Amino acid sequence: MAAGRAGAVLAALGVLSVCAASSSGPVAEGGGGGKAEWAEPWDGAVFRPPSALGVARALGAPRTGREEAVDLPVLLWWSPGLFPHFPGDSERIECARGACVASRDRRVHRDPRTRALLFYGTDFRASDAPLPRLAHQSWALLHEESPLNNFLLSHGPGIRLFNLTSTFSRHSDYPLPLQWLPGTAYLRHSGPPLQERAEWRRRGHAPLLYLQSHCDVPADRDRYVRELMRYIPVDSYGKCLQNRKLPTARLQDTVTATTEDPELLAFLSRYKFHLALENAICNDYMTEKLWRPMHLGAVPVYRGAPSVRDWMPNNHSIILIDDFESPQKLAEFIDFLDKNDEEYMKYLAYKQPGGITNQFLLDSLKHREWGVNDPLLPNYLNGFECFVCDHELTRLDAEKAHAASPGDIPVPEPHIAQLSHMDCPVPAPGIGDVEEIPENDSNPVLTRDHCICLIFIWPHLEKGSTHNGAAVP
Ligand SMILES: *[C@@H]1O[C@H](CO)[C@@H](O)[C@H](O)[C@H]1NC(C)=O
Ligand SMILES: *[C@@H]1O[C@H](CO)[C@@H](O)[C@H](O)[C@H]1NC(C)=O
Ligand SMILES: *[C@@H]1O[C@H](CO)[C@@H](O)[C@H](O)[C@H]1NC(C)=O
Repeated sequence: MAAGRAGAVLAALGVLSVCAASSSGPVAEGGGGGKAEWAEPWDGAVFRPPSALGVARALGAPRTGREEAVDLPVLLWWSPGLFPHFPGDSERIECARGACVASRDRRVHRDPRTRALLFYGTDFRASDAPLPRLAHQSWALLHEESPLNNFLLSHGPGIRLFNLTSTFSRHSDYPLPLQWLPGTAYLRHSGPPLQERAEWRRRGHAPLLYLQSHCDVPADRDRYVRELMRYIPVDSYGKCLQNRKLPTARLQDTVTATTEDPELLAFLSRYKFHLALENAICNDYMTEKLWRPMHLGAVPVYRGAPSVRDWMPNNHSIILIDDFESPQKLAEFIDFLDKNDEEYMKYLAYKQPGGITNQFLLDSLKHREWGVNDPLLPNYLNGFECFVCDHELTRLDAEKAHAASPGDIPVPEPHIAQLSHMDCPVPAPGIGDVEEIPENDSNPVLTRDHCICLIFIWPHLEKGSTHNGAAVP
């Protein structure tokens, strides 16, 4: 049975890698490779490792003393490159239910104490998967990024390879939907007064800002923005649809573009409206593109997480592109707000005392245990490790209880990830129908190669997943 299951996983992974290798996207480089081929510096999707190694480790102070660690469950980081977030090959971590050892030494892979393998989604490659899978080990996935960085994981058979997940989705086991939102103070921050923005308008600034240098992404955002530009002026400073240049070389540097650089923020805050389109459309996938304009007191014109309303400070704080039947209608509405200060200011009412009325948002911020750029709180990387540690300690206890009285206490139920943990519908054109897209279009996500790959591979993936997920005799 074990061999059959491993075979099925292997088959599924094999198919996955064929698909990846024949697509025309950046994954075509093959199974090896690290972060670099997927890195999306401009989009801010690049994982930011914890700042100082020691500081953020607030969930538990590491202790020395090797002998102590002898019987602790081991969590093995299978993904290379992303960590060292601890100095040696392994480190003891203290979590709510007890201690574990986090390691990145692959030689402990087959050790019975190695209870969980941890993967970073962007780096997950079929060719590097530790097969055959061992029955006593959980696979845990950390993937806070969109499917742009590894589309395999937003397909059922991909995500169901894992037992535990930490993704942008509220449905994942260790959810990170507000990973880009430092807190309510960040939202309440008031930008420059409206008169100042009006002055920039008089000096020739457009009402709308677009700042994007990662073009041809799954969300196909530039196609929509290009159309919108026919109806309302947009100042576009990034590499995509550029029509203006940022004033200094430093600001033009794409590395600066996703940071909280004060000079950049001051520049961006001249604009009343920011086009904020995520690189992929997934429920709960929201980035700095959404939160930063709000911080600056601008109104985001947003397309991204279909669930975004659930997270907004009140029900009148952003403009949703998909509420409008056409770019023209959207342009008319923005133009109306641009000329009507009273209506415009209603979009900033959440900045007033008591203005954040969304209890779900307030509760989510209050109850999360990790912080964003907050040296006093653990970061979610350490939080995730502890989450896995606690899960494994619980699972060990349950296994021991079962072993002690098999008649009374059943074997612990398997825990398997769901598609809702990476909830991203298949990419669609930013505007119009797929049939209208010319063959020579530059967006690889929408080209025929990719679609053919998916159509032919899909049935195999589904079959693979049934074998992985369900019991195979
Ligand atoms: C927004 O919330 C207010 C207060 O709860 C309510 O009166 C109003 O109808 C809501 N507006 C929309 C567009 O849902
Ligand atoms: C982990 O997930 C796999 C399917 O991907 C499943 O076969 C296995 O039973 C799960 N293990 C645990 C410990 O939940
Ligand atoms: C695509 O083809 C059309 C006509 O066949 C041409 O006008 C257009 O410039 C081409 N676009 C690119 C990006 O090559």
